[in-house]
Amino acid sequence: MVSLSLTSSNTMPITRQALSIFAYPFRKYTIPTISFSHFPPKRHRSFCQYTHSLSAVSDPNPRNRSPEAIALEYSDLNLPHSTSEEVGPVRIRQHVNPLSAYFSTPVEVPNWNEVYEDTKLPLMVDIGSGSGRFLMWLAKRNLHSKNYLGLEIRKKLALRAEDWAKEQSLRNLHYMFANATISFKQLISAYPGPLMLVSILCPDPHFKKKHHKRRVLQKPLVDSIVNCLAPGGQVFIQSDVLEVALDMRNHFDAEPDILAHVSNIDASIACDDEGWLLRNPMGIRTEREIHAELEGAKIYRRMYQKRK
Ligand SMILES: C[S@@+](CC[C@H](N)C(=O)[O-])C[C@H]1O[C@@H](n2cnc3c(N)ncnc32)[C@H](O)[C@@H]1O
Repeated sequence: MVSLSLTSSNTMPITRQALSIFAYPFRKYTIPTISFSHFPPKRHRSFCQYTHSLSAVSDPNPRNRSPEAIALEYSDLNLPHSTSEEVGPVRIRQHVNPLSAYFSTPVEVPNWNEVYEDTKLPLMVDIGSGSGRFLMWLAKRNLHSKNYLGLEIRKKLALRAEDWAKEQSLRNLHYMFANATISFKQLISAYPGPLMLVSILCPDPHFKKKHHKRRVLQKPLVDSIVNCLAPGGQVFIQSDVLEVALDMRNHFDAEPDILAHVSNIDASIACDDEGWLLRNPMGIRTEREIHAELEGAKIYRRMYQKRK
């Protein structure tokens, strides 16, 4: 069973309330108040320690406020680097074409025993891990109980994230440059422990119909995720683009004999009338999520659990 721990937003520190008012002037900011206690931790409290200039978060242009808001959310990672997608003097490309020949070769499966300190631990895989901050935040809170793997198709982002993990000697966190659509199955089938959580968070939308085939979640990847998940393992999807969220949802809703939505397992998990989760269950927002919420977007979320 999925168990919930409820926290009241009334307990939010004053500093954080003040910041959220400045950061979200036009919409009510709802603090995630639930967490799935057997996997992700409660939302962190670092806001109250963060000494931050309110002038930056009150800039009326969401684009300008985003880096500040991301730095604020991830302040306790103590990463020396800026939030821009830059590695040294080289700016990272916004998008790549995952269908090009360069990205069509499966990556080599590493020796997992050399990657992680304990390969029997449950694994969480974040597909399209971007800068890697989201996964690092989780990994630091579950140092000896879970392993984390970020798959990212933009090589420089993956390499920078792996450098950060090494600098911080995190032996439960690893990032790989990989096209998840191509490499997920081989990588995860070889992992010795159980796969307990897969996340696909704000994947690139590829809006044009002719480009939908570039989207990361295709039927073969869905099948691989469903097959590789251990009984009780979960899939968490979200997007700020309804069409993309629906596309991912349709894929996983199509497996009712194998997957159940968590709200059908535990009636206390709240969804809106359309079945989207009301709260982020991870305890931390991704960078894209922070940016989208600053722009006033709704985040569409679903979480599935593999039947036992
Ligand atoms: C919009 S970003 C979201 C990043 C992060 N999940 C977040 O929510 O902030 C989508 C990420 O997925 C990566 N990506 C796209 N296609 C991919 C693929 N086939 N395999 C692995 N990563 C992919 C992109 O390079 C990009 O970093």
